[in-house]
Amino acid sequence: LRPEVLLSAISRLISAASRLQEICEQPEVLENAMRGRVTNRHSAGSRGCREMAERWPRAPRIIVVACGTSHHAGLIGEYLLENLARCSRDVEYASEFRYRNPILCREDVLIAISQSGETADTRSRRRRSGKSARRLCLGICNTVGSSIARETDGGVYLHAGPEIGVASTKALSAPALVALTLIALKLGKERETLSPEELSANLGATARRCVLEQKGTVYEMAKVFKYASNFLFLGRGYHYPLKEISYIHAEGYPAAEMKHGPIALIDQFMPVVIIAPTSDPNYRKLVSNIEEASAHGGGGAVRARGGSVIAITEEDNHELDAQCEYVMRVPSTADFLMPLLCVAPLQLMAYYIADMRQCNVDQPRNLAKSVTVE
Ligand code: G6P
Repeated sequence: LRPEVLLSAISRLISAASRLQEICEQPEVLENAMRGRVTNRHSAGSRGCREMAERWPRAPRIIVVACGTSHHAGLIGEYLLENLARCSRDVEYASEFRYRNPILCREDVLIAISQSGETADTRSRRRRSGKSARRLCLGICNTVGSSIARETDGGVYLHAGPEIGVASTKALSAPALVALTLIALKLGKERETLSPEELSANLGATARRCVLEQKGTVYEMAKVFKYASNFLFLGRGYHYPLKEISYIHAEGYPAAEMKHGPIALIDQFMPVVIIAPTSDPNYRKLVSNIEEASAHGGGGAVRARGGSVIAITEEDNHELDAQCEYVMRVPSTADFLMPLLCVAPLQLMAYYIADMRQCNVDQPRNLAKSVTVE
């Protein structure tokens, strides 16, 4: 055995262990992100947000700007802001938004999401359309004292701790569901569109759930699908933005879009993951997507095309067992908190597959943890 081969194997093992640790730390990370913010059944919010509260009720629109995984978190936030706060919202790729000439009102609020707080595109947009225009700009950052944290008017820290893995795991669930839920709760309360009591109680209960009980099932699944060359992720509402990568091409689609294109790609080599919690108002339509052709006349049925279907649903729902090759189970909770539970088994699946393919799970080729240049 050559020393360099041994060294590379050891470094791969160390990196795999630290990545698994970051994925498994998520229940604790969520607790940290909520500490002092969801204090009892009657209050939810963060100090950075409270200070800005008086300007929020007048905001006609919230614009979320972010890159990479943070952009995915923003896509979940889009549904939270609309449903919980009844607020008009847009989620933009910072790299595109910075060069556009968008129509913005002075009362619009910008939210920049960045784990590192240093991403050049996200910072730049805040400088152009936030400060100079005296538009309120909030930051959702993990790194305390980072550029975006300093340059924004207020915001929420994630308290996820340092994240080593280049592809974000634990810093995704915190922003998507704690920081953005806190903002939506706060804004909803200011606008008097929802009662925060029930929602904050739900948030507390959810974070204490163990989301990683499915390790065994996920590991077995990873062994089966490790040589897949594509993955399709389907969901509706809160769940359509969820997707994971493991050195395999993956696309996330709103489930109903499947019949407008991706269905042509489905065969036995392209597994389809369908996020189908019964709490989803469109659950029955998701079931139709995985049932034999009849429900939608053949248009949207995955099984009819010979594809392997993996479903994620609640632990007490066995309706999908017969139709899916694998079912990953998560505890029941409010629909807007479901992405928090669903994302962990998906990250774990990406991790196991990448590890089985002997890839470096911490440092994927050509990627940097923080992109501080254009
Ligand atoms: C890089 C990383 C991604 C990350 C993105 C945004 O591309 O490889 O994992 O999601 O930057 O980073 P940010 O720190 O702004 O969340």
